[in-house]
Amino acid sequence: MRRSWNVGAKALLPLVMIAVMAGCSEKEKIVYRDRDLFNPPADEAHGFLGYYDAETKMTTCGNCHVGHQVGWVETAHASAYQTLEDSGHAADHCYPCHTVNDQGNPLAEDGGWKVAAVEAYHDVQCESCHGAGLTHVENPDGSGPLASIAIPATFDAGCAECHQGTHHPFAEEWAQSGHGSVVEHPAGVESCQPCHTGQGALKAWGVNANYVEKDDAEQLAITCAVCHDPHNATYEHQLRFPVDTNSIELHLCARCHNRRTAPDASSSHGLEPHAPEAALLLGDAGWFPPNSNIDPGQIIASHGSEGNPTLCAACHVVAYDITDQDSGGFLFHSTGHLFTAIPCVDENGLPVPGGSCNYNETERSFVGCAVAGCHLTEGAAASALASRVLSITAWSNQLIAALEAVDPNLEAAGGEIDPTDPTFTVAEGAFYNYNLANFGGSAYGGATHNPFLTEALLIASLAAVQDAYPVPRSNVDYHQELQNFLARVSVVN
Ligand code: HEC
Ligand code: HEC
Ligand code: HEC
Ligand code: HEC
Ligand code: HEC
Ligand code: HEC
Ligand code: HEC
Ligand code: HEC
Repeated sequence: MRRSWNVGAKALLPLVMIAVMAGCSEKEKIVYRDRDLFNPPADEAHGFLGYYDAETKMTTCGNCHVGHQVGWVETAHASAYQTLEDSGHAADHCYPCHTVNDQGNPLAEDGGWKVAAVEAYHDVQCESCHGAGLTHVENPDGSGPLASIAIPATFDAGCAECHQGTHHPFAEEWAQSGHGSVVEHPAGVESCQPCHTGQGALKAWGVNANYVEKDDAEQLAITCAVCHDPHNATYEHQLRFPVDTNSIELHLCARCHNRRTAPDASSSHGLEPHAPEAALLLGDAGWFPPNSNIDPGQIIASHGSEGNPTLCAACHVVAYDITDQDSGGFLFHSTGHLFTAIPCVDENGLPVPGGSCNYNETERSFVGCAVAGCHLTEGAAASALASRVLSITAWSNQLIAALEAVDPNLEAAGGEIDPTDPTFTVAEGAFYNYNLANFGGSAYGGATHNPFLTEALLIASLAAVQDAYPVPRSNVDYHQELQNFLARVSVVN
């Protein structure tokens, strides 16, 4: 049975409406008579429809899915063909990523532009991601061609089929980043999914649209379409949420990187920060000892201030070109999609994921620190970091020694520091601050995200431990040290 295509379609503004606006009184029949729903496809075998009207960038799909058309037409995908032509370098092998064909969707053989190089297939259109649509428009019902948000390891479908290669290795870099894989334990637990899986994040953010993997039991990583909206260019780079904001509620990264930013007596992991970066940057993370005279939000280093308008993105999503040291010729474009702030680099200067290289400007790239006039040179940033790390490490060592004197088995059950015991102690608050300062495997995370707050909390914790317990008496007056430190720190709110 053939279903009527314009009934009950909530998100649709079908051709009927266009006919009505044009002053027609009779609805469906006039539409069918006056205007075909689609033009005969140039690649009939595979059924790619492409543009209904290339001149106005009206896609065939957009005839009915008006909201998606209106959003998509503002994205860079809608001008991909012109961009290629304007470059003056267009060659045969360039077209497949700048037109509608089998790339980006599951069709396994050549289709679209590759078999019929017509205007209707210019640009990256709906069918690039959704696949050919002829069958659907011939009989439009609820089962339209769904897009996939998965990135296969072979990069031969989805966004990765085009967003790869030395000029734009988004897929390659992303796959090696923390976002490119899922850790089994959080992935399988529903309460962890809003931050740890692709499906979980989209659901938590109210993206109810259907896509191939939406109801799969297997959980995907944080893929491209989690952060990027295929049909909406409201925020730069089609991000689903902005990165040019200081608001923890709005910032894309802060939606996930903002968990257990203070001790939680109700959790057996309550003394370990979980993803404290956003709160740390904005001066809110940590245990603020009573009587320390430090308030949440008071100490914000320049990294969390308005001087750094995109916060995390400025340091962690840094795109730059690497040129050959001898010839000066192009070698590689890093897209910043390793999401590593100061990645280790190989002998050619190419960023390598993971790695445990030393923190200096030869073994790492500090390029993100030196753009936008923040630090004058990469070397200056590296030494600023080294000096913060030195002081933080020194306070950190004193604090852990004091805590060991209070509770020799530290966080193991029993004693003053016991995450399984719901009673909260001063030593536990101080221990949380110690973990916060050392979060990320070394002192570097705390040292960059908010070195002044980190240092202040360590000293304040030493003072609090000194007050609360008789054991670790020391002849240093930590209250005085804290006063001295706060007087020296320049960026206090
Ligand atoms: C003639 C009108 C019409 C055209 C043209 C059309 N669709 Fe649809 N589409 C529909 C209707 C009607 C539905 C069902 C809507 C609903 O259930 O809310 C639908 C549903 C969909 C769905 C959702 C399927 C699901 O299971 O949730 C997708 C995806 C879709 N269309 C994509 C496309 C794409 C891509 C094109 C272009 C190739 C296209 N549509 C062209 C009318 C159309
Ligand atoms: C058929 C190839 C193809 C597919 C599939 C594809 N893209 Fe693109 N994408 C391009 C091209 C080409 C451009 C550059 C267009 C231009 O600048 O004119 C682009 C541009 C973009 C941009 C714009 C960047 C900016 O500066 O605004 C984003 C974001 C993007 N793509 C994300 C995605 C995501 C996410 C997916 C998968 C859901 C995807 N793309 C699928 C080819 C593709
Ligand atoms: C493997 C797919 C692919 C091929 C092949 C390809 N492009 Fe692109 N092109 C892209 C993507 C993806 C983008 C978007 C990159 C971004 O936003 O950083 C893009 C962007 C561009 C841009 C916009 C400026 C820029 O670099 O961001 C130009 C110009 C361009 N391509 C020209 C070309 C030319 C010329 C060729 C052939 C020599 C070519 N492309 C081949 C995928 C491709
Ligand atoms: C870059 C890839 C890409 C392009 C281009 C694209 N889409 Fe989508 N589309 C997706 C993805 C991924 C989803 C699911 C996630 C979402 O909606 O954000 C989706 C969802 C949809 C849905 C919702 C299905 C539902 O059940 O609610 C419709 C309808 C749709 N797209 C139509 C279109 C139309 C029409 C165009 C062209 C004007 C288009 N899309 C262009 C990738 C794309
Ligand atoms: C965790 C979130 C996140 C994920 C996952 C992600 N991106 Fe991005 N992407 C960003 C941010 C943030 C920017 C903008 C950085 C800036 O300029 O501030 C960006 C920028 C881009 C751009 C524009 C770059 C330019 O300058 O032209 C493209 C294209 C892009 N991403 C494609 C992809 C693709 C393809 C994938 C998957 C392989 C992907 N992204 C995965 C967050 C993400
Ligand atoms: C949907 C939630 C989500 C969003 C949005 C998100 N992240 Fe993540 N991010 C994660 C998760 C979960 C991990 C840990 C992945 C793992 O190891 O399992 C992670 C890992 C990372 C890592 C690597 C940590 C490591 O130990 O390797 C960095 C750096 C990072 N994210 C930065 C960012 C930045 C910058 C943004 C914004 C552009 C961002 N993230 C947006 C969830 C997210
Ligand atoms: C509010 C978002 C959020 C929630 C909810 C969340 N996490 Fe995480 N988790 C993150 C982020 C972001 C990271 C990446 C590290 C970082 O940013 O500090 C991470 C890191 C991790 C890591 C370390 C991964 C690695 O590669 O080393 C584990 C393990 C983990 N989380 C387990 C869990 C479990 C189990 C749950 C559910 C009980 C959970 N998470 C809930 C955001 C979250
Ligand atoms: C001023 C630059 C800067 C800003 C702003 C910044 N970071 Fe970082 N971040 C770093 C540096 C440097 C490291 C240490 C990297 C290392 O040790 O390899 C780091 C470490 C991390 C780590 C641990 C990664 C690892 O490999 O251990 C995560 C996760 C992270 N940052 C996320 C974020 C998030 C989310 C934001 C925004 C709320 C943010 N960062 C803001 C520079 C920055």
